[in-house]
Amino acid sequence: MKELCLTSETREVCRVIFSRLDAETLVRELGGNVFLFTDEVVARLYSEWLEKALHTKIGYTMSAGEAHKDAQTLLSLLSEMAKKGCDRNTVLVAFGGGVVCDLGGLAASLYMRGIDCVFIPTSLLCDVDACIGGKTAIDFCGVKNLLGSIRLPRAVFIDPVFLRTLPRVELICGLGEIVKHAALCPSLFQKLCAQDDLFDLDFLSSLLPENVVFKAGIVERDLKDKGQRQCLNLGHTTAHALELSEGGLSHGACVLCGIVFEAELAKKYLACDADYLDCLESLCRRILPISLEGLDVAKAAHLARMDKKNAGEKISCIVPTKRGEWARLELAPKQYEEDLLAIRSRL
Ligand code: GLY
Repeated sequence: MKELCLTSETREVCRVIFSRLDAETLVRELGGNVFLFTDEVVARLYSEWLEKALHTKIGYTMSAGEAHKDAQTLLSLLSEMAKKGCDRNTVLVAFGGGVVCDLGGLAASLYMRGIDCVFIPTSLLCDVDACIGGKTAIDFCGVKNLLGSIRLPRAVFIDPVFLRTLPRVELICGLGEIVKHAALCPSLFQKLCAQDDLFDLDFLSSLLPENVVFKAGIVERDLKDKGQRQCLNLGHTTAHALELSEGGLSHGACVLCGIVFEAELAKKYLACDADYLDCLESLCRRILPISLEGLDVAKAAHLARMDKKNAGEKISCIVPTKRGEWARLELAPKQYEEDLLAIRSRL
């Protein structure tokens, strides 16, 4: 597959282009009036190449990492765009991983009430998840992705060449989201279970189109996240709580722990296929040893309670149940905390 056209029910259109990125393709697709936005790690590796290809200097480079996905960075980026004279015809090119695309997408949706945005993802997580579906956000008041918008970028360019410079921790982050998709998509689950080395880059590159097609299919039917799209939060209530409470854990590690923890909740509360859930959990463990030892359970439960997916007093989790199936489970905060404690002690 070379290209996919994602058209939402609100008639927004996003082209997803799978291609080796060369100067000719970039200039043809982007034109001249671009504002390049990246982070310092990606800039160190690739800015020279991109600047040369587009004959434009990087407009703004943010510090790398989720800790900087905040209001301060957003405002600095917007100020720089204003200072450099961006106008309604400028295309903001977000070149980087999930943080850069989330923040760049939000800046583009705010600047002059919305300018076009193009993503060039450089991480596995961004390729398979963050760059597809128009969710943009910053973390705010201690809550992940509290401020944001849903607006599709004009185009996304996916080139697996960028996987070659990713450290293992970044591959784990992408694999966390790939396993989440596999829990919802049986053919992907089968491929992962059959693969010996889950970190093999050719294997991961070969999975990109299937992940994108799967996610795009869901987004097309529910761009605004009112119904079916919520399945993409599988494992993420607990993952976000762990990420915020444990500070040093990567998003991928938290997603894998979240999937295991929420699979255990499904076994306790819902009609499910326990053998299948065991397979899903061992898939997570093949990527990373899962341990919640030392977890501050009360703090994590408190943070889960603040999660924006909740409605009312209960903590809402999207849990895997059977092959390709999921359910929403709502638990009282006290119960969630007790379960977190019990599951932690047997993991
Ligand atoms: N990453 C979840 C979603 O895009 O809905």
